[in-house]
Amino acid sequence: MDRIRLVGGNPLNGDIVISGAKNAALPLMIASLLTDEPLVLTNVPRLADVKQLERILENHGVDIAVHGRRRGESDGVGQRMTFHAADIVDTTAPYDLVSKMRASFWVIGPLLARCHEARVSLPGGCAIGTRPVDLFLFGLKELGAEIDIDEGYVVARAPKGGLIGSRIVFPKVSVGATHTLLMAATLAKGTTVIENAAQEPEITNVAECLVAMGAKISGIGTRTLTIEGVEKLHGASVEVIPDRIETGTFAMAAAMTGGDVLLRGARAEHLQSALDILARTGVDLTTEADGIRVKRNGNGIQPVDIETHPFPGFPTDLQAQFMALMTMSQGTSHVRETIFENRYMHVAELARFGADIAVDGQVATIQGKSQLKGAQVMATDLRASVSLVIAGLAAKGETIVNRIYHLDRGFERLEDKLSRCGAEIERLAG
Ligand code: EPZ
Repeated sequence: MDRIRLVGGNPLNGDIVISGAKNAALPLMIASLLTDEPLVLTNVPRLADVKQLERILENHGVDIAVHGRRRGESDGVGQRMTFHAADIVDTTAPYDLVSKMRASFWVIGPLLARCHEARVSLPGGCAIGTRPVDLFLFGLKELGAEIDIDEGYVVARAPKGGLIGSRIVFPKVSVGATHTLLMAATLAKGTTVIENAAQEPEITNVAECLVAMGAKISGIGTRTLTIEGVEKLHGASVEVIPDRIETGTFAMAAAMTGGDVLLRGARAEHLQSALDILARTGVDLTTEADGIRVKRNGNGIQPVDIETHPFPGFPTDLQAQFMALMTMSQGTSHVRETIFENRYMHVAELARFGADIAVDGQVATIQGKSQLKGAQVMATDLRASVSLVIAGLAAKGETIVNRIYHLDRGFERLEDKLSRCGAEIERLAG
């Protein structure tokens, strides 16, 4: 397996182009199952998770094309891709494919809406907690679906004539269940109201895509989504939003190493809560016409307490990276993880750099240190892995990050983007 070797200590200076958001690209690709016309997506990041979902969609019969670069586009620009589900040949999403990535479970919504049946393996994905699917099943049942669990598969059937609009009140906010029910409701008969919906920017990107495909949705970007079912959806062309988690990760990297970095294409409104917290740690942040500038020159890092929450709160997907930053603060800080019950696997690995972190239930207490020391580390999920990379960038000496396939699932050209800003980082082939 490939590893990353880095030598810490260099400040980051320069521009980093932010890629399309993984967590928007995946549900947008899944939305292509709702229509027999082509869906064109632009700014699709080149990631292992995108490739994996391509395999799953192809198994359902989706034709996928990657188009070449257009005149005037710089190299490294996100991919332009067409997804054409003219004929869905198979409504089963098999274990071998689904178990590698939790988001692939979301195909259950569009398959059920369009084909009135779906057989989808229970999901796998990052090891960050039990991550059940009860909210999905609850929502689909509210739309009239009959659900059975059979040999590890969820077998779902719509009533004769298709799903029926209904009022769904989620007892808990779920990104995936909101995506899935939103997609399913577009082709249901009558009106669906989703209450306590997730409000993440990626949900808005998908809702706007569905509207471009002919869906009738109001309340986009709020806690309540109202969907007027239509008979058919059509093709559209939609751009994937910039990745707010990649943005926040590089902002924290620059905060840790010092320097001056322009995060090109980043949108401040997609991660305002994280930017507000970063500003309190002493980082200089300015929103410019073409992105967000992050600077820290000389001054120390102040300790700040955070709690993770659904959007617009501080994102759980930046918790590990923020904890890495806090290991270098001038005092004691606390992190409370409220979304996932087991998302502290990076704690033991950060300790290898000399970090002082104690976990008690949901709360981690971090005693800041002026200097981390390079180490051999390994991570078990995507965001935890990148927290080790940014810790290594700030640590003294050499760091080796093992098992980096998680990074390739969610960060496009990570080493390239960082080394262009002065980081000493390279990939060692396994
Ligand atoms: C999405 O996961 C993201 N994945 C995650 O990013 C992100 O951490 C998470 O939202 C929270 O923001 C994608 O967008 C592809 P949830 P998702 O359903 O949809 C519980 C990354 O690193 N829950 O909002 O799976 C669940 O256990 C990934 O890019 C139920 O109890 O998250 C969790 O505690 C990791 N029952 C909470 O809700 C359900 O049926 C929120 O999970 C569904 C979820």
